[in-house]
Amino acid sequence: MIGSTIVHLDKVDSTNNYAARELLTKSLNEGTVFTATCQQSGRGTGISQWESSVGLNLTISMVLYPRKIEVCNQFAISQAISLGLVDFLSQHVQKVSIKWPNDIYVDDRKIAGILIETVISAGKFSRAIIGIGLNINQEIFVSDAPNPVSLKNLTERNYDLEEVLDALCDKLDKRYLSLIHGDFDTLNNDYQQVLYKRGIWANFRADEIDFEGRITGVGKDGPLLIETRAGEVQGFMFKEVVFK
Ligand code: BTN
Repeated sequence: MIGSTIVHLDKVDSTNNYAARELLTKSLNEGTVFTATCQQSGRGTGISQWESSVGLNLTISMVLYPRKIEVCNQFAISQAISLGLVDFLSQHVQKVSIKWPNDIYVDDRKIAGILIETVISAGKFSRAIIGIGLNINQEIFVSDAPNPVSLKNLTERNYDLEEVLDALCDKLDKRYLSLIHGDFDTLNNDYQQVLYKRGIWANFRADEIDFEGRITGVGKDGPLLIETRAGEVQGFMFKEVVFK
């Protein structure tokens, strides 16, 4: 389903914006993917921008209708997409992980970001635009993004973007099917297995206080669970805690 229709755009502000505009006037098949050679105002999470040099990386947005997924399972969408990326990347490099909630890392460097924008109706998702920026052939990054890396940085190979897109869609599709079939346990288990810094003592900051802790996992609705040195496990929602 994902990637059965692929729309290549030469130049666009943001593929997520473009997909949203298209949906205003057209009905799009589920799994339609928009991909851009040049994305001029790529959006990251929050107010951040997404850096991608022209023609070197994948900047894509896909349109999904996860109508059976209840809002309480929102985090499972993020897990499915993150795992699709991990499945793809793990075929090429080692030490791929998901930095909670959905940054894709190789070792300590970010290789991909995900921007999920949903529309909810009657407690379920009527639509999702899933934006993915995946660094492929770019070697030098100039923005202040923390520790960016590309596949080429890691393997010293050049990749054919169309081949990468096909292979990625295949992996995303498998995880998306698992999601819409309600296989939340598998998604959740697999997610925990590849969670960045799980079980490792690290430094965090929450409520302007620095503390040492180790991630024990992620709770059902997506909170990051961190055990403190005092032996207490606390749950943090998105933006409530940062890695130091
Ligand atoms: C993040 O900050 O980690 C999320 C980055 C998401 C970037 C992608 S690139 C394709 C799509 N279009 C956008 O404007 N953003 C997403």
